[in-house]
This record gives sequence, structure tokens and C-alpha cells, in this order.
Amino acid sequence: MNEHECDFSRLDYFFNPRSIALVGASSDPAKPGGRCLNALIKRHYPGMIYPINKRHRELLGLTCYPTLSDVPGEVDMVIISVPAHTTIPVLREAAEKKARVAVIFTSGFSETGPEGRQLQKELKETAQRLGIRLLGPNCVGIVDLPMSVMASFANIVDLEPVYPMNLGFITQSGAFGAMIYAQAVEEGVGFSSFVSVGNEADTEFADFLAYMVHRRSDTEIIGGYLEGEKDGTKLRRAAIDALKLGKPILIMKVGRTGAGARAAASHTGSMAGEDRIYDSFFRQVGIIRIESLRELTSFVIIHRAHRLPKGKRVAVLSVSGGAGVMMADKLEEYGLDVPSLSDATRHGLMEHLPPFGSAANPVDMTSALGADPTILGKCLRILAHDGELDLIVVNTALTDATAATISRDIIDVYHSIPKPMVVTSHVFHPTKKTTRALETMKEADIPVLKDHLDAVRAIRNLVWYTEKRRCFLTSLGSGPD
Ligand code: COA
Repeated sequence: MNEHECDFSRLDYFFNPRSIALVGASSDPAKPGGRCLNALIKRHYPGMIYPINKRHRELLGLTCYPTLSDVPGEVDMVIISVPAHTTIPVLREAAEKKARVAVIFTSGFSETGPEGRQLQKELKETAQRLGIRLLGPNCVGIVDLPMSVMASFANIVDLEPVYPMNLGFITQSGAFGAMIYAQAVEEGVGFSSFVSVGNEADTEFADFLAYMVHRRSDTEIIGGYLEGEKDGTKLRRAAIDALKLGKPILIMKVGRTGAGARAAASHTGSMAGEDRIYDSFFRQVGIIRIESLRELTSFVIIHRAHRLPKGKRVAVLSVSGGAGVMMADKLEEYGLDVPSLSDATRHGLMEHLPPFGSAANPVDMTSALGADPTILGKCLRILAHDGELDLIVVNTALTDATAATISRDIIDVYHSIPKPMVVTSHVFHPTKKTTRALETMKEADIPVLKDHLDAVRAIRNLVWYTEKRRCFLTSLGSGPD
């Protein structure tokens, strides 16, 4: 057993408890204890659920107990959704029931000032004495989608799960984290788990990151919203292990400015730290620092094709000269190459392009694609087999007349090569045919994104990460660090 393993086996109870007691369960769906109870039932959490409420004998068809002590047998997880001053007595009862972990939604601790800080200190000491690991307080809880553990009151518990469930997410802001989750689901990105760490009285951001790196084979990518890390050593160790295992980590680290850092300090009590230090720390350990939610979702979408670029030479094949120039500009600005094409490739392309098209890189197919949709497939095949190119971006527009041919040709070429490819596709008037074309490309595992800039940023991040990991693994192979 390595030094983490005993910690991880305790954290397992957050993700896969055999039973859950909810203190502060309510019939009122507007209350956190009501929403959480509803979600556990609606998502068919498979373990025992024990609602605890002094005023009811039954809640949503389940037997309700006046106190935790009245619950028959042991309980793995206790969710606490009652006012701050009653949380410590509840923890003591939880220990009698042999609870391993407690998720504390309650606010009113260190985020509120000296009295709250004192209460949080007592809460932490009580939990340590009783041997219970805490999540929170002042958090929206934890959700594990594959295990249907909806130990949360965030609105995300009402959203239908999206497949594949391969993104793990950890957030120091409950509400913002929930918004990120909801938007990601809208973009077709599915979560394996979501953890809101709140005030981090006991467990913290890096604990869950390390857990997802080591313990969750279903979690291929880990995302995070971070205001300030409490234990840089833990974060470094988890990030390096993730790099070794090939699980990309993307973190939105805020508090870049004086105003942001002050806001973080009063929000979760985090010290944002010197921003440049985070920047270089992230770069060193292979963490991708992101600025926006779509940078996370578009990375997940291109990464799930499981194709990594061999280098940074990108070909741009575009239906629009303007979009091609814009993407080429940004790619080079981000340090990628949009190289001139070889004579053989250019001559091959010229055979299929109209005289007013361009066989330079970016390749401009022009609106001639509307009249002859086979141009795209023919040009793409030539670029795909050019050994001097590492990755291809295809920018197309789909209409009723062109959608089927273009999507079929893209799929054919995609399956004939191992190279990564990203498609950005504009649809002027969505119809059954254009929607079907987009769906078939996605079903064929082709990364399809709406926005050109999202595509370019995702490519930059994929190329940077792949190169970082390659160098890291080489350094390991060449001797001790
Ligand atoms: N044992 C059993 N039942 C109890 C209890 C106890 N010790 N204490 C309260 N209850 C019952 C209440 O009677 C109530 O039942 P009812 O709905 O049938 O009336 C229910 O449990 C909830 O308690 P209540 O006192 O109404 O609390 P609340 O739901 O209004 O608020 C919190 C509790 C924890 C949600 C609130 O104190 C809080 O901290 N809110 C902020 C949470 C938050 O935003 N966190 C994350 C920020 S990112």
C-alpha cells in the first residue's frame, strides 16, 4: 500500500458510499435538503437513503428518522444541511453511526469572519478526533454520475447525464462550478464526477485531483476552478502523476489581478498567490491553464478522439478565405506552424480547386464547394497523406445539398489516417440533413466544434500537452529526475 492508498480508500466513501443519511432532509424542494433528497431518489442512488428530519416520519416515500441516532445500523456518508451551530452535534451522532465521510452544505464558517473561523476550527478538530473526513463546509457537495451519488443541492442534479462520462471536475466555487458544469453538458461534454470543495476545512482541491488521477479509470480528463491552492506540494505530485499517466489537467486559475486576488480571499479565504508563480508552476508540471469554459469543453471534445499530434505543423482547409486567414494567424500566434505546402501537395490540390481558389496553406476551397461538394474530400485526402503535416483543421459550411457528401468524405478520410483532425462547421439553416451530417461525424468520433477560435485554442492546448508529456517521459527514460 503506498502512502496515498489509505487516504484514497477513505475518499472512496465520497464517491461510492453504501448508504447516505441526509440531516436536514426536507419536503421543500427549494431547500438544499429537499433538492438533494429528490435527486438521490430520482437518479436511483442504489444504496440506502436515510432522511433525517424532526418533523416528519416519512419523506418522498422513505422512512424519515428524527435524529441520526435513530437510524438502524451504520451509515457511510452523512450529508449535513442544517444551520451552522448544529453541525458539530450532528457530527458526533455521525460518529456513533460509524460514518466515514460527511458532506457539509452549511455556510457560516471561515468565510464569514473570526467567529466563523473559530467554528470551522472546532468542526475540523471534532471531525479529526472522530475519524470522519469532511467535504466543505460551505460547498454544493459532490456528484458521482456512474454511481448515481447525488450528494449535492446544485441545480446540476436535475440535468440528464451526458455520455461519455469522462470529465472529472473540482471547484473552489460551488455556484460558478455548477454553471460551468451546466454549460459543459449543453456542449455535449459528460462528467464522471463533480466536487465542490467549499472552505476545505479538511479535504481540499489537490486531494480530489490526486484521487481522480489514481483512482478513477473512467476519468480521462480533469478540469478545475481554482482560486488558490493550500498545499502546492500535493498539487505538484498529483499533476506529475497525471502527466505520467496521460490524464490532462485543465485549470481555470483566477485571482490574476489585485482585485481578483482580494475577491478570492473574501470568497473562499484562498490566497491567490503570485500569478506568475502559478503560471510557471502549471507549465512545469503540465497543467493546461485555461481562461474560459469553452477552452475546457473543446479540449475534451478533441481529446476524446484519442489522436495525438506528432508535431505542430497544421494544415488549414477552409471554405472561407477569411476564416482560413484568421485561424492561420491565431495558430502561428500560439506558436504552431502553418507551413507552406510541398510542390507535390500543391499540384495535387490545384487539380481539384477552382482557378480562383488557393493551394497555399490555408487552402481556400471558396464557395465553389457549394456547387461541387466533392472538392473537400479530394483536397482533404491529399493533405491527410502529406507526411509533412501533423494535424488538419477543416472549416466547412453545410447545406441541404452538400451535407451528406461532405460528412461522408470527411469520415472516409478520417478513418484512413491516424492523424488528428478537427472540423469546424457552420450551418446557415439547420435542417434534418445538416443535423444528421453533424451527428454522423460526431458518431464517427470526429471532433466537431462550432467556433474557429475554440478549435484553434484546443489544438494549441493539445499540441502543447502532447509535447510536454513527450519531453517528460523522455526525461524519465533518460535517467533519474
Ligand atoms: N435534525 C433534524 N432535522 C433538522 C435539524 C436537525 N438537527 N435541524 C433542522 N432540521 C430540519 C428543519 O426542521 C427543516 O425541516 P423542514 O423543511 O421540514 O422545515 C430542515 O431540517 C432544514 O432545516 P432548516 O433549519 O429549515 O434549514 P434550511 O434548509 O433553511 O438551511 C442550510 C440550512 C444548511 C441550507 C443553511 O443554513 C445554509 O447554510 N445555506 C447556505 C448553503 C450554501 O449556499 N452552501 C454552499 C455555498 S457555495
